[in-house]
Amino acid sequence: MTTATARAYPNIALVKYWGKRDSTLMLPLTGSMSMTLDDFPTVTTVERQPDASADTFELGGEVVTDEPLRRVAEFLDLVRERSGVREFAAVRSKNEGPTAAGLASSASGFAALALATSKAYGLSLEPADVSRLARRGSGSATRSIIPHFAVWRAGDDETSVAEAIDAPDMRMIVVVVQARQKEVSSREAMKRTAATSPYHQGWITTTEEALESMIEACADGDFTRIGRITETNAMRMHAAIQACDPPIRYLAPQSIAIFDRIRALRDAGMETYGTADAGPNVVAISRPEDADAVAKALAEFGEVRVMAPGPGAELLADSEAQ
Ligand code: ADP
Ligand code: DP6
Ligand code: CO
Repeated sequence: MTTATARAYPNIALVKYWGKRDSTLMLPLTGSMSMTLDDFPTVTTVERQPDASADTFELGGEVVTDEPLRRVAEFLDLVRERSGVREFAAVRSKNEGPTAAGLASSASGFAALALATSKAYGLSLEPADVSRLARRGSGSATRSIIPHFAVWRAGDDETSVAEAIDAPDMRMIVVVVQARQKEVSSREAMKRTAATSPYHQGWITTTEEALESMIEACADGDFTRIGRITETNAMRMHAAIQACDPPIRYLAPQSIAIFDRIRALRDAGMETYGTADAGPNVVAISRPEDADAVAKALAEFGEVRVMAPGPGAELLADSEAQ
């Protein structure tokens, strides 16, 4: 195949990945666990260009020439190396959700790119191989290959892939506080946390424990325990990030107000817990039957969307050049 189109969805981690053991192989310091969403898809087309002298990247109809192009081209280099096909490519992508705002665009983006590129360059990969490949583009993309719930183990180059895990059905209530691009990328902030945050080691130790507890809670179908682990883990990640030098603060006043409201809802008997990635947008989790009530209670803070466990990365089309 020389042209392929794939779709992938973002995922939001309940136990988060924040720190690399190897930034070339993109091995994380700790394992993580997430839910893949059923909204905010990325659709990416990769078209090999036999006569081109460089890769090109279009995102949301705009030609991209800086850092995001460099990341895409570096990723394509890996696939060229593996396939033995040296041709450059034209990559066209569209994110339905906000880009670089803490709603996992790098996860859906590189998951879709990994699947489309592997097909366009003629690699025939199992889902585990696509997950391993997606990891090289963005760590969180490792998990977006997998439908519903995924665990990504720290491991080594071979074993650091995502696998499906059973968890009780739940909903994510995504509150879009700000859709604009964050000032510090996840990659940069993660590096700075490891280099300067005095809480980095505490983050690593407690996240390893949190993942083991989360796996048990999922096996038990224990939503309450899942929720508590989720919120605590998110708060600890933000605490470690805020303690960087110079400091980084992703949560906006609105984000904090949402976490307060989530707690007030719990106090009033509606069971919901909050999390936030590297950005101001907050994601609440609830049992399916409570999701609409939680969404209503959070609607004053921004655009609210209820999302269910979603599909893994899928190929939409592929073809040989005419
Ligand atoms: P987010 O919180 O959205 O994941 P990150 O800082 O992790 O933010 O990553 C944002 C970067 O991911 C973008 O600047 C770009 O380099 C890359 N990215 C986002 N969407 C895509 C896409 N559809 N295809 C390729 N790369 C993408
Ligand atoms: C807070 O996967 O975006 O969303 O691997 O450098 O591309 P890179 O970073 P990225 O980091 C995700 C951080 C997080 C937590 C998570 O998704 O587990
Ligand atoms: Co990201």
